[in-house]
Amino acid sequence: MNRINIAIDGPSAAGKSTISKLLAKELGYAHLDTGAMYRCVGYYSKVKGIDEHDEQALAAMIDDMQISFDSMGNVFINGEDVSKAIRTNDMSMRASSVSAHPMVREKLVEMQQKIAKDKGYILDGRDIGTVVLPDAEVKVYMIASVEARAKRRFKEYEEKHIEADYDEIYQDIEKRDYQDMNRKTSPLRKADDAKEIDTSDMTIEEVVSAIRNLIQPCI
Ligand code: C5P
Repeated sequence: MNRINIAIDGPSAAGKSTISKLLAKELGYAHLDTGAMYRCVGYYSKVKGIDEHDEQALAAMIDDMQISFDSMGNVFINGEDVSKAIRTNDMSMRASSVSAHPMVREKLVEMQQKIAKDKGYILDGRDIGTVVLPDAEVKVYMIASVEARAKRRFKEYEEKHIEADYDEIYQDIEKRDYQDMNRKTSPLRKADDAKEIDTSDMTIEEVVSAIRNLIQPCI
């Protein structure tokens, strides 16, 4: 079987990670949640007391930090499990701020390209089809209404016992969409050759099946 790379992009809470994990399991591929890497930069800069606007200091910090994942998708910074700490609403906003800096993006994109160089990867993020893996064999752009996404994120927080407020989540999703789509470097946009899927009224299985149909002819 032909091993390929799959790029899944889209705005926050469109279902990218959930779908990527399921597909990766089904195909025996590895999944890289690139959003978690930007969250790590946001989180660690806060721990270190580094200003989220200080691009040079953030870049130096990245050179000194090791981001790793285990097979369950847990996330570690220098060996410390930060899986839960990076998932708060605050960290979502901070990840979006630090990700706007070109030097931060350059460093994380390089790491992501190194990881995925041997194929057999599903990467989810904002710039995978456009910048990280422009040659990915399958590219998907997942969207959903703000309401559908806010409901999903709220439910996810409840399940993980993370304190959350629905209205705040709704507003943060709108704000993050704006920031991610309007930044100068690698703004969130659909790659010309990506297939758009609106997941607002689809079940998880329906989305997986739609993407499976795109993958089948390529493997
Ligand atoms: O996907 P997730 O919501 O965890 O991503 C957190 C933030 O990281 C996004 O709002 C976005 O600003 C940034 N991000 C990015 N490029 C990626 C993945 C995430 O800029 N490839």
